[in-house]
Amino acid sequence: MNTQTLLQPIQKFLHCQTPEAWIIEARKPENLPLLLTDHLVCELKAALTATWLIRKYVADKPSGKAILEWLKPYEAFVYREQPDPDFLSAHKGLSRPVTTATDFAWTGSLVEKMMLLIKEELHHFYQVWEIMQQRGIAYKKMTASRYAKGLMREVTTHEPMTLVDKLICGAYIEARSCERFAALAPYLDLELEKFYLSLLRSEARHYQDYLNLARQIAQFDISARVQEIGRVEAELITSPDPELRFHSGCPC
Ligand SMILES: [Fe+2]
Ligand SMILES: [Fe+2]
Repeated sequence: MNTQTLLQPIQKFLHCQTPEAWIIEARKPENLPLLLTDHLVCELKAALTATWLIRKYVADKPSGKAILEWLKPYEAFVYREQPDPDFLSAHKGLSRPVTTATDFAWTGSLVEKMMLLIKEELHHFYQVWEIMQQRGIAYKKMTASRYAKGLMREVTTHEPMTLVDKLICGAYIEARSCERFAALAPYLDLELEKFYLSLLRSEARHYQDYLNLARQIAQFDISARVQEIGRVEAELITSPDPELRFHSGCPC
């Protein structure tokens, strides 16, 4: 599947494209360390969101605890800036099966899709970390963008809509990441262009997995809710935003 075919459903799903002004700012070489650092953290956050969904809704206690352990070295590195992370041995734990405490019709597919997503996001994390190391970019903690918080404000506070809304937000975050990788890739050096384009396939699948899970779990037509959250997402992307981040709004 070529890039254009991959991107078509994503561009249809999103309510707006990345503004030109964001690309102009993001492509500046002096902003690369900031963007790669934010990208690194975003990969961990994507894995943490999926982990939270498995633990909150389906995993039994021992599995929930084991999943938390897998993520610990990554969190220690990102949030506590602990050097010498042992990411490779942490990754080995991810092959253990998750045992569940619930038997909803969607329990199995939530575990299957989210476990695959966690593995892929942590692999992306490792790839970004390697690129940063090769380029001598030291990891420094930075503030998060307003984007995810802005989307989470839209999440309904009662179930099952909380879960459905979180899955829809997940679909938008993944779709936007995919669209932004493609938008920025042509303006980066060859190595980064190749890397960003290599991420499109999995991010496009993540968006679809989130959306399909939301539909399956809701068991009613979620299209109006998808549209509402899509409008908020587009507002976060097109409105002025003083802080440049991977998912930031229009630079001002
Ligand atoms: Fe990713
Ligand atoms: Fe993803």
